[in-house]
Amino acid sequence: MGEETARTTCALVAADLVKTYGATRALDGADLEVAAGEVHGLVGANGAGKSTLVKILSGAIRPDSGELGIGDWQGSHASPRQAQELGLATIYQEASLVPSLGLIANVMLGRESTRGGFLRRRRDRESSAEVIRRVGLDPTARTVAGELSPAEQQLLEIAKALHREARVIIMDEPTAALGIEDTVRLFEVIKGLRDAGVSVVYISHRLDDVLAISDRITVMRDGRRVTTVEADESDEASLVKAMIGRALERQELRARSRGAAVLELRRVGQGTRLRNISFTLHAGEVVGVTGLVGSGRSRLARVLFGAEPFDQGEMFLEGEPYRPSSPAKAIARGVALVPEDRKRDALLLQQGAGKNIVLAKMISNSLGLLRLKRENQEAGALMRRLQVKPPLPSALPASMSGGNQQKVSIARWLHAEAQVLVLDEPGQGVDIAAKEQIFEVIHELAVQGCALLVISQEIEELQQIADRVFVMRRGEINAELAADEVTEHRVVEAAMGATIEETVKGVRA
Ligand SMILES: Nc1ncnc2c1ncn2[C@@H]1O[C@H](COP(=O)(O)OP(=O)(O)OP(=O)(O)O)[C@@H](O)[C@H]1O
Ligand SMILES: [Mg+2]
Repeated sequence: MGEETARTTCALVAADLVKTYGATRALDGADLEVAAGEVHGLVGANGAGKSTLVKILSGAIRPDSGELGIGDWQGSHASPRQAQELGLATIYQEASLVPSLGLIANVMLGRESTRGGFLRRRRDRESSAEVIRRVGLDPTARTVAGELSPAEQQLLEIAKALHREARVIIMDEPTAALGIEDTVRLFEVIKGLRDAGVSVVYISHRLDDVLAISDRITVMRDGRRVTTVEADESDEASLVKAMIGRALERQELRARSRGAAVLELRRVGQGTRLRNISFTLHAGEVVGVTGLVGSGRSRLARVLFGAEPFDQGEMFLEGEPYRPSSPAKAIARGVALVPEDRKRDALLLQQGAGKNIVLAKMISNSLGLLRLKRENQEAGALMRRLQVKPPLPSALPASMSGGNQQKVSIARWLHAEAQVLVLDEPGQGVDIAAKEQIFEVIHELAVQGCALLVISQEIEELQQIADRVFVMRRGEINAELAADEVTEHRVVEAAMGATIEETVKGVRA
């Protein structure tokens, strides 16, 4: 299909949408046009209104005003069921799969016909198997959805959408938890969908991914569209400028002086999942940890934080044996973790953001009431710095966008004055400007003498902040790279035992 014909028909239209929550204008006249058979990127800072737009399109919420078009249908609101029947499917970051069911059962879920009998059910099973195959999974595998990797779960969600004959698939931050191998795989499937005439709306804070996969990109700011551009004619710098209204300079944040040894691990292991982990972390340094999903990075973090046990080796904190039996014990010893799954970091959604931020410190220091007031002011300053929207300690996380909740969760631990701070994917889900601020705070904490372990699969992030990087593979530290050795090639080789070219070829084969 030629470009021109593809664009003459719109698969999805949003015109002049307005949505307010009290005094907040989540959408302030937002527009979007998605052509049939196009991959359309949607970007914007945290709180720009992306998810609100998606929720309106999918029927989850009703706009105050504005018009929608899905295929030939036009109106101001479609119910979720109607939107689905019109061919719209939405894939959120939190999978809607049932972990204990198999692949085919998940695809068929909610669609099984109680009537219709044996033949019909068999046809349904066959068509389910067909879409599962189409996204590159094996329908005959005797696995349940819960055992799939995050990437495979997303592929299964796509299969589900295909089985419902979706003509437009919206993905709200689909690659947040995916490594490079998985991202390549997901992109291959998305391209296949586009070639079959399906439209994909792709929302992500990873601008290089958005540029790579999209035909066109719409940039939102403050509830409105700033511009829609051809991906070919755009680049990261111009997207950032449209998103935040200014250019962003990336600062070199390395070069610190290393202090005394703080945390030491000697041959630490957990079954076969973590093996033989030995290293020493010094005050004032930022050590990066990377590796594929499942290589043991997050598990190592949870062991350090007392959230999981270890059964081999020893740990020492300032020379004293360290064997935390719970996160509370770890916090009491000055060890903190910003978990990857920040939804489970249990923000008190109905308590002010400021209170959430001072909470961790209260646990470790038992603050008096007088100090609490000052702490609250500091929390407010940190919120302004990370550009939390709105930047008020009284604001409830429940009414914040996903990325802004993440910032509050990160601020909580940045504020906790830990001696050892472990951050699991601190850049995930937050916009590029906030990420820069988070990295600056990480750097300042190191300068003040904190020892930091930063887990990230973004090589650029590690290049920016880490003094050295551990690359994990199958539960072990497979390589330690000095700052100037951290290149995409070195990291990928150590993480997979193969070159990027081989990996990409393997995925495509
Ligand atoms: N239920 C709600 N109550 C009050 N305000 C809300 C609610 N949902 C969203 N908002 C506000 O609407 C604005 C847009 O939020 P939205 O979730 O659409 O942003 P987003 O672009 O998806 O951000 P992110 O990149 O962080 O996911 C934010 O300022 C948010 O605080
Ligand atoms: Mg969102």
